Amino acid sequence: MPTTLPRRYYADADYYRTELDEIPEAGDYFTRSLVDDSLIVTRNSAGGIQALFNVCRHRGTRLCDQAGGRFVDRIQCPYHAWTYDLSGRLLAAPHMPPDFNKEDHGLHHAACTEWGGHIFICFGSSPALPELPDFRQYQMEDLRLGRRIVYDVGANWKLIVSNFNECLHCPTLHPVLNRLHHYNDAANVPATASYCGGALAFKPGVETMSVDGKRRRPFLPGLCETERHHVAYYTIYPNLLLSLHPDYMMTHTLWPRAHDRTEIICEWHFHRDEIVNGDFVMDDAVEFWDQTNREDWWISEQSQRGIQSRAYEPGPYSEREELLWAFDHIVRDGE
Ligand code: FES
Ligand SMILES: [Fe+2]
Repeated sequence: MPTTLPRRYYADADYYRTELDEIPEAGDYFTRSLVDDSLIVTRNSAGGIQALFNVCRHRGTRLCDQAGGRFVDRIQCPYHAWTYDLSGRLLAAPHMPPDFNKEDHGLHHAACTEWGGHIFICFGSSPALPELPDFRQYQMEDLRLGRRIVYDVGANWKLIVSNFNECLHCPTLHPVLNRLHHYNDAANVPATASYCGGALAFKPGVETMSVDGKRRRPFLPGLCETERHHVAYYTIYPNLLLSLHPDYMMTHTLWPRAHDRTEIICEWHFHRDEIVNGDFVMDDAVEFWDQTNREDWWISEQSQRGIQSRAYEPGPYSEREELLWAFDHIVRDGE
């Protein structure tokens, strides 16, 4: 007779931790798509992570149409049952002649690298991770997903990046956020071709970015006094917006869906020891940023609309908008 799950599925802190890691076990996967391409990001039996093109090597069928889940120990095409192992090697191809060479028909790989627990995938051929800022002290690999909200925003992805790269709009657009940060105080590092950003300190009495500026979780271990009193906001090009708080990390990843539409996955990550603590709360951080996100998405949609008008022409940047100007350079260089 079917039974409910054993106790550990509900009552074991270690099991809970593995649930919050997106692909902790061999066979766990999620998919990501961009324009016509879809990748399966999965952990193989040796514990490595890889990105496999979601394209059967028989007649090209998409193998997996789910956002995520777990393969038992292989990936099987739903069409004629060609079967691959978790590293993409072809194991079985029914009805093929004896001289058919399975080794030549494994799934295509995309470049895939890890950095501080983040997985970077490249749909093209670019193999290596670019130079990235040093955030070792944040020990990002020890953070676990607490909450995810996906937004569908009617704006070009570059408008989302530009909006993130400046806080000059904070007094007009974000009344609550503006109570927590001095909008004009950003200490930016020199922008590079792969990232830009810097730190924004809190106003006196503010402890973190939350609905009331109070911090309800301990500091992340390893932070110095300065890092305990600011947020590091970085754009890792092209599509990761990284916000490192004294007590949590927020990430946005941008997934362009059309010239005027972007899917934005926003995630809040907390220390793995904290998230299993009985007193743990996160709504203060999630609610604060959800509200702020919606304000930013709204203005980005307004920007998109204005720019689409025949009356639009490129406008002048102020000196405080230097990160946007640097980003525009990168965009132009990519043409
Ligand atoms: S298309 Fe995948 S097995 Fe035929
Ligand atoms: Fe904003």
